[in-house]
Amino acid sequence: MGDENATVTLMIDGHEVTVPEGTTILDAAKSIGIDIPVICYHEATTANGLCRVCVVDVDEGRLLQPACVATCQNGTQVSTRSARVERSRRTILEMLHSAVDLGQAPEIQSLLDEYQADRERFPGAERRTAPVRDDNPFYVRDYSQCVLCWRCVQVCAEDAQYTFALTFSERGFHTQISTAFDVPLPGSSCVFCGQCVGVCPTGALKPKIEWGLEQGWSWDQIREGTRRERKAPRRANGD
Ligand code: SF4
Ligand code: FES
Repeated sequence: MGDENATVTLMIDGHEVTVPEGTTILDAAKSIGIDIPVICYHEATTANGLCRVCVVDVDEGRLLQPACVATCQNGTQVSTRSARVERSRRTILEMLHSAVDLGQAPEIQSLLDEYQADRERFPGAERRTAPVRDDNPFYVRDYSQCVLCWRCVQVCAEDAQYTFALTFSERGFHTQISTAFDVPLPGSSCVFCGQCVGVCPTGALKPKIEWGLEQGWSWDQIREGTRRERKAPRRANGD
């Protein structure tokens, strides 16, 4: 059995830090005021190392390590802003921007600016598009804005609600968040707790009222569109 009081000491960006064994590099860096960018990580969900924007250099190893899941190792030297790290983060952000509508993802937009990402780097890239899902009175899903961070799936499952309404469909580039068998939300196990909307870092999940206002709905249309039994008003552009 391991010693629960055991600590490890390492250097992060030239600063010595001692943390309990098992601490992630992300948390160790944070404890000394060094911010590492994240997208898929959220403090309310289990870190899963999906987006790779948090990568750091550990002992100039062959592979960069995702700081949200990699734990601190005694005697190592970690660099959170080496040229290799910055290039990797920039490329990830550029690829994300090339495929996903990030227009309502302010934190990711800030990262694009901070890492001087070239928003035109992949001009011919295929876009991830999806029709807006408006199938319930509470919230709307627009997966053309989804970065597949998995946070919504996690809070719907063991990290919070234990409802398991959300999962994924398809594979590879066409992977998409979905209900089981892609049934409309009212026909799934969803209890409309709203936790998925709360952790979504983009505009992919949005309260129905907010979405309706963006579409130019009147208050009467909003009242109608958010009734339990309702006919969805048409979008402002007539779709
Ligand atoms: S819908 Fe939002 S929370 Fe869910 S995977 Fe997509 S971006 Fe993440
Ligand atoms: S924040 Fe670490 S992999 Fe996404």
